[in-house]
Amino acid sequence: MRLRFMAIVLFSAFQSSFSQTDNAVEKKIQQLIKKMTLKEKVGMLHGNSKFYTEQIKHLGIPEWALSDGPHGVRAEMNRHNWKYTGQTDDFSTSFPPGTAMAASWNLELAKQRGIVLGEEARFRKKDVLLGPGINIIRSPLCGRNFEYLSEDPFLISQLSISYIKALQTQDVAACVKHFVANNQEENRFVVDVTMSERALREIYLPGFKSSVVDAGALGVMGAYNKFRGEYCTENNYLGRTLLRKEFNFKGVYMSDWDAVHSTEKAALAGLDLEMGTEKENYNDWYFADPLIKAVQEGRIKESIVNEKVANILRVMIKTKVLDPQTRIKGSINTKEHQQAAYRSAVEAIVLLKNEKQTLPLNMSTLKSIAVIGDNATRTHCGGGFSSEIKALYEVTPLQAITDKYGKSMQINFAQGYEKQSHVVERSSAGQLNTDKADWKLIDEAVAQAKKSDVAIVFAGLNHDFDSESFDRLHMRLPYGQETLIQEVAKANPKTIVVIIAGSPLELAGIESRVSALVWGWYGGMEAGNAIVDVLSGKEFPSGKLPFTIPVTLSQSPAHALGAYPGHDLKVNYDEDILVGYRWFDTKQIEPQYPFGYGLSYTSFEISNVTADKKVYGVDDEITVKFNIKNTGKTNGAEVVQLYAGQTAPSVLRPKKELKAFDKIFLAPGEQKTVDLKVKVKDLAFYDEKTSGWKTESGEFMLYTATSAKNIVNSLAVTIQ
Ligand code: BGC
Repeated sequence: MRLRFMAIVLFSAFQSSFSQTDNAVEKKIQQLIKKMTLKEKVGMLHGNSKFYTEQIKHLGIPEWALSDGPHGVRAEMNRHNWKYTGQTDDFSTSFPPGTAMAASWNLELAKQRGIVLGEEARFRKKDVLLGPGINIIRSPLCGRNFEYLSEDPFLISQLSISYIKALQTQDVAACVKHFVANNQEENRFVVDVTMSERALREIYLPGFKSSVVDAGALGVMGAYNKFRGEYCTENNYLGRTLLRKEFNFKGVYMSDWDAVHSTEKAALAGLDLEMGTEKENYNDWYFADPLIKAVQEGRIKESIVNEKVANILRVMIKTKVLDPQTRIKGSINTKEHQQAAYRSAVEAIVLLKNEKQTLPLNMSTLKSIAVIGDNATRTHCGGGFSSEIKALYEVTPLQAITDKYGKSMQINFAQGYEKQSHVVERSSAGQLNTDKADWKLIDEAVAQAKKSDVAIVFAGLNHDFDSESFDRLHMRLPYGQETLIQEVAKANPKTIVVIIAGSPLELAGIESRVSALVWGWYGGMEAGNAIVDVLSGKEFPSGKLPFTIPVTLSQSPAHALGAYPGHDLKVNYDEDILVGYRWFDTKQIEPQYPFGYGLSYTSFEISNVTADKKVYGVDDEITVKFNIKNTGKTNGAEVVQLYAGQTAPSVLRPKKELKAFDKIFLAPGEQKTVDLKVKVKDLAFYDEKTSGWKTESGEFMLYTATSAKNIVNSLAVTIQ
């Protein structure tokens, strides 16, 4: 009785103190707004330079500082053009980009990244960090796949929640982007995307919804493209119905840079802040003098302007912009930050093939290694446009091998292929004619491979391909790398290929010819150390693919259906909900490597998989329990994935969908019991007939798996 009473008192105390603070914030916002002129208000609603908005000095409101980006704090740019200032105090920590974060399947690492980037953003006096970029990886060709996370909305949601919550503990606002359907760079400024409401709800929205509703993201960025006939930034359904009403979003809805096309329409659709417009005079921007005029002429009510100012002030207050004394000061380039970047790179690495335990290499017995490929010496942190980072340093693979093993063995380097591409902004033209094999470089590489104990080829892409502002032209390895790898593999039976890339590539021409294949991603500043430590066994590989790697582009859903990049600047997502593995599974197409796939140096045994009940009600939570044991001789980690599929749905549903996962670290011989939980409600599909989520009764299968293809256990349960 007493306990219950105490609980009630505590609960109501918490409630009232919570609403008190919220009320106090709202009161303060209204007081500030009352003291502002219309011009001052509007000054807060558009950029006064590339990355700032206007201050209101007499009210103690400073300029608001926004900065890219998703995997590091970008270097300082000139205020009025896109050139870097060239100052020397803006080097920062560079994490591996989004796809690599997703490949780690480690929520704790996403959290660490959030904290580090928050600390660095604060140190650099930034208020908003523009990221994470969470658009669905729909086509293997999208130039920004490397920045994004996955083809799966659940994996995206979980990682975003961890990252955003952590970032915002550092008094920095996240700005989740690009809302919505910016799934290709080709024609991104104009393409009109249409899709079914169901595809929107099941695939393209969940990441944004979780970011706002579950993580409390304080910022959302409206995408460049059109959605159902209207630019995202002036789309009432996106801005008002979904963001404000359904998600109850109280933060700032800002435009992507130069994504605004109107004053009234955008203002009414709920956009708060216009950024990046290319008109030279800032007063000419849509949310500048034209907005003042619209209010003066009665086309827009001043209350609409006040609402926008309130949204910005609310974020400022929550991140202590108006309270600089108590605000976190941050730190930069610390050893801890670099260690976090290193862990993030290590845990992203995916082992795709390891014939006869080629890996890990026994470095103490090797006398020589051939290190081959342009990517062995190329740095990547500074590429990709808005996500590029001026990293304090970036360790390349060759540098790492030389530093760590240069004294104990002969390192035979050969470039192998030449980077024949170049960047042409807004166009993939720089990728044309880049498929030539250079036989002089190949012969040199073969000679080095022949005289070495093992050959490691660092192959893949670079940011002439994986980049904002254009898509790739094809899914093949460029620069004649396939021929290079085939020749090296003929010369040395112990050939290992490490792919550096952020998007799927055709691997069929090399996979069967090499002894080991590793996906290393863009690894950030610690890339070289991470990959070399995994190859040597100092660290173990534990990443899993966050996207399917098709055998050919034509296997991939949007391409199989001719629904990329669209016609006449329109694209309809014909594959509907069957994105990524949902398509491959349901259509029974064998990919090169499935979603969720990745090997280990050790082996695991999963046993005693049970569900807590056989029959569940709609409000229940299902718990699947299993034992997992490390049955090998070295440390390792397995990412166990729980998928669910409905046996006889009334509408087409994917064969299975990811519903839970856990990354489990185990020493040799160690065993753990693990629970994975899924709410019955989360087994629902979006029913277009009733415009709501529907969980049908009947049989569902729960698949415990180590990839979308490798199902360890299937359990049937009934939903009533
Ligand atoms: C990108 C955004 C980025 C912005 C500011 C745009 O081109 O699409 O992701 O945050 O530029 O640099």
